[in-house]
Amino acid sequence: MLNGKKIILGITGSIAAYKSAILVRLLVKSGAEVRVIATRSALDFVTPLTLATLSKNPVYSEFLKNEQGEWVNHVELGLWGDLLLIAPATANTLAKMATGQCDNLLLATYLSARCPVLFAPAMDLDMYKHPSTLRNLEVLAAAGNQIIQPGTGELASGLFGEGRMAEPEEILAVLEETLVGQQALRGKKVLITAGPTFEAIDPVRFIGNRSTGKMGYALAQSFVAAGAAVTLISGPTQLRPPEGLHAFQAVQSADEMFEAAAAHQANFDIAVFSAAVADYKAAQVADQKIKKQHNAMQIELTPTRDILATLGNAKKAGQFVIGFALETEHELANARKKLVNKNADLVVLNSLQQAGAGFGHDTNQVTLVAAGHTIELPLAPKQEIADQIVQYVIDQL
Ligand code: CTP
Repeated sequence: MLNGKKIILGITGSIAAYKSAILVRLLVKSGAEVRVIATRSALDFVTPLTLATLSKNPVYSEFLKNEQGEWVNHVELGLWGDLLLIAPATANTLAKMATGQCDNLLLATYLSARCPVLFAPAMDLDMYKHPSTLRNLEVLAAAGNQIIQPGTGELASGLFGEGRMAEPEEILAVLEETLVGQQALRGKKVLITAGPTFEAIDPVRFIGNRSTGKMGYALAQSFVAAGAAVTLISGPTQLRPPEGLHAFQAVQSADEMFEAAAAHQANFDIAVFSAAVADYKAAQVADQKIKKQHNAMQIELTPTRDILATLGNAKKAGQFVIGFALETEHELANARKKLVNKNADLVVLNSLQQAGAGFGHDTNQVTLVAAGHTIELPLAPKQEIADQIVQYVIDQL
């Protein structure tokens, strides 16, 4: 249910912190990527090793990560998350967040986060019923945060009443409801081609290109996070397929990629052709390794089939098709030609002009070219570009 979702779990100093370990496990099992921020007092109740092992990520606690003075960027962390959950949330943290105090990493991350924030309070019943706590909860709820009501039962103090943190399973259910409700592409089938193709010349040599597949894989991850069922067809890359894909198919050549993609022709809602498909392949693939000749040699090349043009031109009503273009001259005019000739709804034009954009980089600079408009996106990490392209598709649909 939480496939591809990025969750920041803030843990504060309550005995209920022992349940946070179970919560981390449930979130990871549900497909989420979890990063834990534990306050200093939370670590009196649960060890960073437990949380790091279960979340498969380092645990953040201080503004400085290590003795070398490496800084934990709370702004980046706040922007990374799709959701910030504070469980358990103590009376102290609630009070500090309600008044905007900022003297630890979790408080700073809360102030930086743009995502939904959920609180699972945990404290003794008199603390929970205290007018100050109730007022703080009201302030936090009025600021748009969600409060997961604590349960009633025996408390660590031995008293019986309200204040016990909601059970991890209940918290997970609330999270799923919050995040799944936001998944605009739930039920949509997305087909993505990514990476280069390798066209064999003989058993050892091939014609390839410098595509790394990063942009296509980033798009796959963003579509998964938007709730879509994503089929990723990938040429040879060094990348690990993102979690939560509906299907993954590794191919080598343009022909294999064509066959794999064509099998989905009738049943995709959105198709993204980000692969750098070879335009030509060897007319004859030699059975044996070609031996060196002392004269110049020629290899006859024959065109490959254009996957985007074929699937784009066979597009049915309701199918949305995205192509990519990499141009070195007359960029916009060539991108518009591709939009028309390949019957795409959008062409993502890659810039080769700007430093930090294009093959192999983690950042990219693209222009979205559609029939009635062009939108130039600023240089940004490929994952952010992917999120913006997915948001564009959501807006268009
Ligand atoms: N494409 C494809 N199958 C091919 C060639 C290209 O699906 N055999 C897709 C790419 O995935 C990309 C788009 O077509 O989305 C544009 O690719 P590009 O190589 O820029 O365009 P070409 O049509 O090959 O034109 P040229 O190389 O002359 O610019």
